[in-house]
Parts: sequence; C-alpha cells; structure tokens
Amino acid sequence: MENCAKKYLITTYGCQMNLHESEKLAGILTSMGYESTSKENEADVIVFNTCCIRENAEDRAEGNIGALKQLKKKNKNLIIAVGGCMTQQKGEAEKLHKKFPFIDIIFGTHNLENFKELLLEKISSKKSILAVMEKEGEIIEGTPRFRTSFPNAWVNIAYGCNNFCSYCIVPYVRGRERSRKFSDVVAECKELIKQGYKEITLLGQNVNSYGNDTKEADFSDLLNEIASIEGDFRLRYMTNHPKDLSEKLALTIKNNPKICKSIHLPLQAGSNNVLKNMNRKYTQEDYLNKVELLRKHVPDIAITTDIMVGFPGETDEDFNETVSVVKKVNFSGAFTFIYSRRKGTPADKMPNQIPPEISKKRIIELINLQNSINRKDSKNYLGKTVQILCEGFDEKKKLYLGRDEYGRMAYFNGNNQDLGNFVCVKITKTGGISLYGEKI
Ligand code: SAH
Ligand code: SF4
Ligand code: F3S
Repeated sequence: MENCAKKYLITTYGCQMNLHESEKLAGILTSMGYESTSKENEADVIVFNTCCIRENAEDRAEGNIGALKQLKKKNKNLIIAVGGCMTQQKGEAEKLHKKFPFIDIIFGTHNLENFKELLLEKISSKKSILAVMEKEGEIIEGTPRFRTSFPNAWVNIAYGCNNFCSYCIVPYVRGRERSRKFSDVVAECKELIKQGYKEITLLGQNVNSYGNDTKEADFSDLLNEIASIEGDFRLRYMTNHPKDLSEKLALTIKNNPKICKSIHLPLQAGSNNVLKNMNRKYTQEDYLNKVELLRKHVPDIAITTDIMVGFPGETDEDFNETVSVVKKVNFSGAFTFIYSRRKGTPADKMPNQIPPEISKKRIIELINLQNSINRKDSKNYLGKTVQILCEGFDEKKKLYLGRDEYGRMAYFNGNNQDLGNFVCVKITKTGGISLYGEKI
C-alpha cells in the first residue's frame, strides 16, 4: 500500500542550538502526522531554519530559498516556511516577504513553539503569514522533539544571551538569557538516559552563566546533578564564556568521570585592545589564567576555541597576539572566522573595517598554525587505546566512526552492533585531525 502520509523537509543553518530547534520543529510536524523526507519534490512542507551570525550564512539560505520558486510553481500545495535567527532581525520578515513572495510562513525564533498553529492557519487561509514576535516570552516546556543525533541528545539549559559582544547579532535575535528550570533539565536528561542515549550535550550561548537569572543553582550544580544519574553515558556542554568560568567548574569536571574532559572556550582574539573593543570583558592574561586553572585540576583537558580575524581596527600586532595565544594554549581544535559586519551591532559602526584581503591572509595563517598543532597532537595518539562512542558509519571510508571524550574523531572497522555503544579502539594511524584504529 502506498504511504500517503504528508512529508516534511527541514534545512538547518547555524549552530547546535538551531539543530536542536529543528528537532523541535520536526517533533511538532511528527505530532501532526507528517513524516520526514530528504527529497524536495516529495515534500508537502519545506522549512528553512536560518542563521544570521555571518553574512555567508544568510546568503546560503537566501540562495536555497530562491531556488524553490520553480518547485512552488509546479506544486501549488507546497508550503514553504522560513524561521530562525535571520527572520528575527528587525525588518527582515517584510524584506524576505517582498523578495520571495512565494514563502508561505515567516516566523521568528520566539514563535517556534507556535509552529503547529501557524501551519494550520496557513493550510486553511492561503494568505502568507508573517509571525515574528519582537520580544521573548516565558520558556515553553513540553514541545515534542524528534531527535536526529542518536546516540547524542541535545538538551537546552538556557536561551538567549546577555553579553552583547560588539560584533554579535545573537542577543538581538535570541533575546535575553533565560535559564530553564533545574528540575526540567534534570528530568529531560533522566528520560533520555532511560531511552538509551549515551551522550548528552547541554546547550546555551553561555552555559556557565546558567542560573544567574533564576538563582536556583549554578552550572556546576547542574552538571553534578546530571552526572549523578545512573547509567553509562557522557556529558558535554557548550559554549562557555571565559569570564564566567569558575574553579568550581574545573573541580566539577575533575570529580565526575561522566563529564568529558573537554571544553569549548572561545578566545575570539588575543589582543587586549581588540578584546576590549569586542566587549568580551576579559584580557589575554585572564584567558590564559583560566586555561591554567582548568589544567591545574584537569591536566589532560582538551580545550577548543573560536577565533575571529579582521575585527575593526585589528592591526598586524593585534593579530600576532592571537597567534601567540594559540601557540601558548595548544588548542585541541579551533573554529576560525573572518569578522562579518552585522547591522544593528556596535562593531558595524566602528572605523577601520579591515579589507577582506588582509582578513583572508590572517585566517590562512591561523588555520595553518592550528593544523600543525592538530597534526602533532594526533601523533601523540599513536599506539594508544581510546574509548569511542560509535555514532555512525562513513560511507566513503567504509569505516565506523565516533569520538573519544576529548572530542577526537576516530575511524575503525566495526559492525552495526557498535552503533550507539562505547568501543575500545587502538590508534594505528593518523591523518590530520582524524585518527584511525582497530577495535580491541
Ligand atoms: N555564544 C557563543 C558563540 C556564538 S556564535 C560564544 O559566545 O562563544 C559562534 C561564533 O561565531 C562566535 O564564537 C564567534 O567566533 C563567531 N561570530 C559571532 N559573530 C560573528 C561575526 N559578526 N562575524 C564573524 N564571526 C562571528
Ligand atoms: Fe554572541 Fe558574545 Fe553572546 Fe556568544 S557571548 S552569543 S559571541 S554576544
Ligand atoms: Fe545560532 Fe546562527 Fe542563531 S549561530 S543562535 S543560528 S545566528
């Protein structure tokens, strides 16, 4: 019998937070009887969950939305919805509607929980819907999730951000920081572990300021509580702001074997002048002290980071300060970005915007430096046995893959039973940042 269930396709841009938000959209659609498809021409509803952190994220989304015009002409019943951070920007919904009048629903980050109502309204009315609530509301619990990253599960602990780094659009499109209730987070984690998830990644723009608003408990208390849940699982979290990193957190990582010895600690820049203009609220020295504090208590902790080049006014000397910190810290991985001007942020109005040629040169230097650190680090793995949580199969390499607690990816000969389980792998070969080995 032919399956006549209606189908949806969601395309996600941006960060883990958005990936998880798409799991909520998928949960809502599933609860309405829709099934997922990966083919555009099979879909009854296509949703774009967008990002606006950098210009290229917006360009990619707009390109893909524009390409649907033909499909929409062929299939009049197709519903196209666009939501996420891009649509939440001031005036953006109207702009998008004008540019792509065939979009049926435009919704903001604060309207996601109402997606069912928006879709039903659209099905019955035929008119385009623009639903972008300007201000964040209370946290809404109970939205269904259709999880797509087994054996890992994403769990929000806080929404929004209060930091207003001068380059960043997030506080404007995600609202003020709101922590979820301690008991709601813990209950969700318990349920996930009961269901067999082996890794939980707590999400927030700034996880270590969790609880500053509710005053129920701080981030370390939350980690301690989740780590005490019975079961065989790992606990991760992201992202950490250096200014809020405490000794209590370092000790919490040290004292709980279920908490992975890895931390994502964005540096952004090494120069104190640039850090000040970025409104990051720490100096190079503060950052290095936090790294030292972490390593004092957890000597083998893997530290990964985000770095931006080409911030307005960044001189060669400033950039060299970044290079110097990268060398000193010996990061286990770094995401590097070229600064992108965002409308409405203070940095957009700063003088001395850096020409793209200079930014490109700087980012290449940084990438090469980090790659060389990664290669050296990989060599240290040779002959070692690591515990991998098997998360998938790589079709190209024909090998199973997963990460160790430090976040390193390893490929190995395995079988289907390994999926979602911890396996011991002896590392025999390295390639750049990836490790290869044999199951033992
Ligand atoms: N809340 C997280 C990160 C959010 S965005 C944190 O503070 O660490 C992820 C990364 O994108 C940031 O760490 C930063 O390096 C980068 N980013 C943010 N705004 C940017 C911009 N305007 N141009 C280029 N990169 C940016
Ligand atoms: Fe953006 Fe800074 Fe908030 Fe991170 S901490 S989301 S970079 S404003
Ligand atoms: Fe994430 Fe992009 Fe929004 S990085 S919070 S999806 S602007």
